[in-house]
Amino acid sequence: MKKVLFIFGTRPEIIKLAPVIKAADGEGLRAVVLHTGQHREIADEMLRLFQIHPDINLDVMRSNQTLFSLTSRILENFERVFNAEKYDMIVVQGDTTSAFLGALAGYYSKTPVAHVEAGLRSNDKFSPFPEEINRRLAGSLTDLHFPPTELSRKNLLKEGVNPKNIHVTGNTVIDALLWALKLPYEAPDALKPVFKSGKKIILVTSHRRESFGEPQRRVFKALLEIVEFVENSMVLFPVHPNPNVIKEVSEILKNHSRIHLCSPLGYLDFIHAMEKSELVLSDSGGVQEEAPSLKKPVLVLRDVTERPEGLDSGALKLVGTDDEKIFSEAVKLLTDKGAYAEMTKNPNPYGDGRASLRIIKSIKLFLDE
Ligand code: UD1
Ligand code: UDP
Repeated sequence: MKKVLFIFGTRPEIIKLAPVIKAADGEGLRAVVLHTGQHREIADEMLRLFQIHPDINLDVMRSNQTLFSLTSRILENFERVFNAEKYDMIVVQGDTTSAFLGALAGYYSKTPVAHVEAGLRSNDKFSPFPEEINRRLAGSLTDLHFPPTELSRKNLLKEGVNPKNIHVTGNTVIDALLWALKLPYEAPDALKPVFKSGKKIILVTSHRRESFGEPQRRVFKALLEIVEFVENSMVLFPVHPNPNVIKEVSEILKNHSRIHLCSPLGYLDFIHAMEKSELVLSDSGGVQEEAPSLKKPVLVLRDVTERPEGLDSGALKLVGTDDEKIFSEAVKLLTDKGAYAEMTKNPNPYGDGRASLRIIKSIKLFLDE
C-alpha cells in the first residue's frame, strides 16, 4: 500500500484536508497524518469533529509566535521525521507556514509533493502576508497541483507549470461543509440568546497579520457604528486566539449589548452561525469560500483577494479596512433587499463537494505511473 503523508498545522488546513484524508482511506492508500501543531486549541476542536488522530504531532505552537521562530521550529522537527521514515507522497494544503515547509520537506527528502488549493494569487507580495509568498513557494516545490478553479489553473499555467501536472478539483472546503451540514446539531446554551434574539446577525472574523493595529481598529470602529445605526442588528464575533487580535477587540468592542464576543467556535457552531446570519464580514479565506453555499453575502475586510471568483459571481465585495466603506456597504445590505438579492443569487463558484475524491484519484494515478 502506498504511504501518503498529509501535513497540516492550522484550523483551515484541517477542515480542508479532513475530507481528502477520509477519501484516501477509502481508496486504498495508507494515510499518515502529521500535525505540526502550529495551532493548538482551535486545531484540536477540528481534529475532534473530523475524528482525525495525527500519527505525529510536533506541538510547535508558542504564544504570539513569530514567523522566524515558527519556521525554524517546524523545520528542525521535520528533519527527525523525514530521517525516520520514507513516504511515497506528501500532501500539503493552502498557504500557511506549515504548508510551505511541508512542501520544502518533500523537496529536501526527495518525496513528490501534492498541493491542494494550488494556484491562488493576489499578486501582492505583502497581502495576504505571508500567505501569498507561502503559496508561491509551496507551488514551486510541487509535483502535482490541485487548483480549485479554472482561474487558479490559469495562474499556474502562466507561471510555466506543466499542464499534465495540474488538475482542477473544486475546493475541498465545500466537501467538508456539505458533510458537516448533514450532522445533527443543537446550539450550545451560550449561542442560544444570539440565535433567538430576532436581530439580524452580522458574523465577523478577523485575523490577518497585515491588518493588525490601525486597520483592524478601523474595522472595529465600523462595527460599533453599524450596530448603533441599524438597531435590529447584532454582531457575533468569535475572536481568533492570536493575542494581537484579542488585545484590540478587548479595547474597542467589549461591553456593547449588541456585540456578542466569544471564543473561536467549533466548526458546527460556526457554520450554523453563518447559516443564521444575515451578513458576513471577514478577512478569512475559508469563510469567503463557504458563505456563498449558504447564500450569505460577504464583505471582505481586505484590499486585495486571491479569490476573485466570488467577486465575479457577486457573492463577495472587497471593502478593505476603510471604516466608512464598511459602514455604508453593511448598512446597504442590511436595509436594501435588492442589493442583498444581487449578492446571493448565483451558485457557489468554489466547488461541488466532490473535490477530495478527484484529488485522491489523481494521486493514485500519479503513484501508479
Ligand atoms: C495562521 C496562518 C494563516 C491562517 C490562519 C488561520 C501562517 C503564517 N498563518 O495565522 O495563513 O489564515 O492561521 O487561522 O501560517 N493561537 C492560540 N491557539 C491556537 C492558535 C493560535 O493561542 O490554537 C495564538 C498563539 O498565540 C499563536 C498566534 O495565535 O502564536 C498566531 O498563530 P499563527 O499560527 O502563528 O498565526 P495565525 O495568525 O493564526
Ligand atoms: N471557523 C470556525 N470557527 C470560527 C471561525 C472560523 O470553525 O470561530 C472555520 C470556518 O468555517 C472556515 C475556517 O475556520 O472553514 C477558516 O479558518 P480561518 O479564518 O482561521 O483561516 P483562513 O481560511 O483565513 O486561512
